[in-house]
Amino acid sequence: MNIYKNLIRPVLFRLPPETAHRMAICALRWGARPWGGVLRSVLTVKDEILKVTVGEGEDRLVFPNPVGLAAGFDKDAVALPALENFGFGFLEAGTLTPTGQPGNPPPRLFRFVKEEALVNRMGFNNAGADKVSERLARSPGKRIVSVPLGFNIGKMKETPLDRAAGDYVRCLEVLYDHADYFVVNVSSPNTPELRRLQEGASLAALLTAVREKADEWAGKRPARTRPRLLVKISPDENMEESVVESVLAARFDGIVATNTTRSRDGLTPPYPEEGGMSGRPLRHLSTDSLRRIHRFSKGRLLLIGSGGVFSAEDAYEKILAGASLVQIYTGWVYSGFTLVNRINRGLSDLLRRDGFSSVMQAVGRGV
Ligand SMILES: Cc1cc2nc3c(=O)[nH]c(=O)nc-3n(C[C@H](O)[C@H](O)[C@H](O)COP(=O)(O)O)c2cc1C
Repeated sequence: MNIYKNLIRPVLFRLPPETAHRMAICALRWGARPWGGVLRSVLTVKDEILKVTVGEGEDRLVFPNPVGLAAGFDKDAVALPALENFGFGFLEAGTLTPTGQPGNPPPRLFRFVKEEALVNRMGFNNAGADKVSERLARSPGKRIVSVPLGFNIGKMKETPLDRAAGDYVRCLEVLYDHADYFVVNVSSPNTPELRRLQEGASLAALLTAVREKADEWAGKRPARTRPRLLVKISPDENMEESVVESVLAARFDGIVATNTTRSRDGLTPPYPEEGGMSGRPLRHLSTDSLRRIHRFSKGRLLLIGSGGVFSAEDAYEKILAGASLVQIYTGWVYSGFTLVNRINRGLSDLLRRDGFSSVMQAVGRGV
């Protein structure tokens, strides 16, 4: 019997989605602690074939497995140590803006159970990068999780587009010491005009500003711990070629493909017009975008596939399309806390079945 689907989910799904999410974070923060070690030993899949190494020599970053938690689940980085126990190979906090903001008025999160989808228009509700970095600085020199940790960063709702770079740079500055990678989020559909930052010249200017600052601070940290820089894009605008050009020109390390979609294809009405859709109906759209990015970048970038991953087959599809790593959010909401374990076990079988000896060997092989 699937305990999550049969017992826990029916209770959680009686609550409004945001209340259920808040309760889950609370339970993770406090309840999962005593059981952490047991959970971790049961749910973590230890298998060399799953290991993903990014970079070389001193400068390398090792992911014990390619399945990570997508941005938005633990925006304020309050439950990361508990989340690590579910077997994730990496975790991403955020989106964080320089200071806290409330986001859009509720209701702003909607479930579509039959379709296994969510629509959200949260609008970067978060405690602020300043508060989160203050909290993290209380344990100086100590990592809060043992797997790679990313921070997804964004601009405040009130900041005009022509001053957006300042917000991203500010987040980078205050979180710099805690991050293994940063994701510059220019693709949320819920901050007015944010997606315009993906356009050619705007994106090039933004990424260059972020890269210059990161280079300035690089001296603060030994080479092997310098954070990687990625950008997260939307599946809706078909701008992959110019995004890849800007990313390479600014010497960014990679791309997360993709954020949620404005499309409602695959949903049965009524549905909210405003907001981004995630989950099963997003899968093809985001994998198509990933495949195009892989084609344009010709293996020169680290690609993270995000959108509609519910199974080992879905994760493998993204890897064959060019992703070295994948992330899940909505799949976790619908399938529960053993999903990462199931994906990792299935993935190692699929890799062996096809004669690969590592995830990296399979990256982009299905294009
Ligand atoms: C409720 C909710 C909030 C999200 N918040 C963020 C966010 O703050 N920043 C971000 O980059 N992506 C955010 N996302 C998008 C996810 O990180 C992910 O890219 C997207 O949901 C597709 O993956 P999935 O189909 O596995 O959910 C959010 C998604 C959901 C469902």
